[in-house]
Amino acid sequence: MLINLVLWIFIFAIIIIILWSFNSRKYRSSFTVSSSYDAWTNDKLLEKLWGEHIHLGYYSKSSRVKDFKEAKIDFVHHLVRWSGLDKLPKGSRVIDIGCGIGGSSRILSRDYGFDVIGITISSEQVKRATQLTPNHLSCRFQVMDALDLKFQDGSFDGVWSVEAGAHILDKQLYADEMLRVLRPGGYIAVADWNKRHDKRSSLGLIESLIMKQLLDQWSHPEFASINSFANNLLNSRFCGPNVECDDWSEFTIPSWNDSIIEGFRRLDVFIELGPKSFLQGMREIPTILLMRLAFGIGLMQFGVFRSRG
Ligand SMILES: C[S@@+](CC[C@H](N)C(=O)[O-])C[C@H]1O[C@@H](n2cnc3c(N)ncnc32)[C@H](O)[C@@H]1O
Repeated sequence: MLINLVLWIFIFAIIIIILWSFNSRKYRSSFTVSSSYDAWTNDKLLEKLWGEHIHLGYYSKSSRVKDFKEAKIDFVHHLVRWSGLDKLPKGSRVIDIGCGIGGSSRILSRDYGFDVIGITISSEQVKRATQLTPNHLSCRFQVMDALDLKFQDGSFDGVWSVEAGAHILDKQLYADEMLRVLRPGGYIAVADWNKRHDKRSSLGLIESLIMKQLLDQWSHPEFASINSFANNLLNSRFCGPNVECDDWSEFTIPSWNDSIIEGFRRLDVFIELGPKSFLQGMREIPTILLMRLAFGIGLMQFGVFRSRG
């Protein structure tokens, strides 16, 4: 028992030391985020392993084992239904805020008939999203900051934003901008990585070390808690009377292990992209394991939010 504990502490210490030595993606401004995503898009590793969706998958209680990429598509449909976005008629205008390379945007356009505009801070993602989108889809992409949306109030029937908020420092402005561009009565669906709500806001030493790595490694300035972000939405002057939220950690947690397994299953990708990509892949493993650990012990939670404009 004691030997096991010492071994785990030792492994943990090694992981932390390795991560500390690669600190270059620490958030400094939205430029760190855009340059990180530009690099992740251009090196193609993320796309080849994770596909066109840069978000976690959905695994119901009865299907914990499923195809990694299918699970991501399932996630989009679950969130559409849970948020009520599926009640919008075909042709409705929807904005995908922090759209990545457009995986969700294309599903919203193709399967629900929405007229979609995806925005991201990364110009390389806009190029790639545009390449991946067939002409017949009503789906376009623009470089834009989520904190400064170049649209008039009430321009959209639906607002969609998945796993973008953790990269944004000013959570209130992020909530305000999303709700500002939503028309009264429209639907908003947000999903994000959130930290545990802690009134005392005190993390233990190990928890603090884990949290620091989760922030610094993937260019996150801060995580909101589910509670605090629900309040950001509610406090916005553009918000309707209700905000509902839920914790989907148990439905998304298998994605972390699956993303590592996918790396080992798809060794052909590393052969195709060359030895540098293998090192890049190895670099991500400790952070993925720490994410899995943090979601497993409840230090992190997967928040979903819905509201009406
Ligand atoms: C984890 S990815 C999620 C991508 C996409 N939503 C998906 O599910 O595939 C985070 C996305 O948020 C975008 N993002 C981060 N900060 C942003 C900001 N300030 N304005 C616009 N997009 C931002 C990134 O460029 C990236 O596309």
